[in-house]
Amino acid sequence: MKNRRFLSDNNNTCLLLVLLSGLIGGEFLIIVFLRAADSPLTHSAASTSPLATTPIQLRAILHYATSPVVPQQTLDEITLSFDVLRSLCPCNFLVFGLGHDSLMWASFNPRGTTLFLEEDPRWIHSILKNAPDLHAHTVSYRTKLSESKALLKSYKSEPDCFPPDKAYLKNNDKCRLALNGLPNEVYDKEWDMIMIDAPRGWFAEAPGRMAAIYSAAVMARKRKGSGVTHVFLHDVDRRVEKAYAKEFLCRKYLVKGVGRLWHFEIPPAANVSGEGRESAGFC
Ligand SMILES: C[S@@+](CC[C@H](N)C(=O)[O-])C[C@H]1O[C@@H](n2cnc3c(N)ncnc32)[C@H](O)[C@@H]1O
Repeated sequence: MKNRRFLSDNNNTCLLLVLLSGLIGGEFLIIVFLRAADSPLTHSAASTSPLATTPIQLRAILHYATSPVVPQQTLDEITLSFDVLRSLCPCNFLVFGLGHDSLMWASFNPRGTTLFLEEDPRWIHSILKNAPDLHAHTVSYRTKLSESKALLKSYKSEPDCFPPDKAYLKNNDKCRLALNGLPNEVYDKEWDMIMIDAPRGWFAEAPGRMAAIYSAAVMARKRKGSGVTHVFLHDVDRRVEKAYAKEFLCRKYLVKGVGRLWHFEIPPAANVSGEGRESAGFC
């Protein structure tokens, strides 16, 4: 009798032990799973994947899904730059002008550098209020649209503007077409793609796009890395944009035009050979 009770007590203790170890084991497994899902290792693996969505892309989706204001360029124009950006990104992308398209440009270049140059500090403030992740600098222009003809005529007699091999931007006080006071980051980086959709160029007192076009041409010519610089210019239906594009970005480098947008592929000057290269000017 005593023996039977001893055996049944023993069985109960064993059952209890099995249940307890099962419970502890299960809890341990759940903790291991939760830790693994939350571990920095799994997080960084996901966020470094080239397909992982970046915070700026999420902000862009939220913005464009809820805003009635859309970018000024048409779908066909945007698609032209979008296709090139997709083939280059992550890349260094310099954009003249902040606007309703800025979040879109930055989110097309995830994990790359997208830098905006804007003339109007109040406009910078109003755009960054809703998109603080954008990287933007103020730029001062020393030109007026009304001077565009005179500057195009006279730049060749200014030795700091011309010939192109001698042209430079940083601290170039004599050549008004050179953007001379930009942050070092702009001069130190090689820009794979440049979008010129600013400054304002639709009234006489506005700065016009002359200096942006000239400076983009100088940057492209000075490129040391492999490949060309892709330069996009908007509003080419206007006289000044057309004339300066022909002078500095060159017809022979124009690869495509859609709507009011032209796309140039400019090789570094070191890759351009030919007799009398210096006197030939930018083209
Ligand atoms: C032609 S806009 C560029 C517009 C841009 N592509 C877009 O889709 O919004 C060029 C410049 O005009 C000025 N600008 C454009 N819209 C403005 C606004 N609503 N208020 C003040 N300035 C504006 C900014 O200085 C900007 O850099």
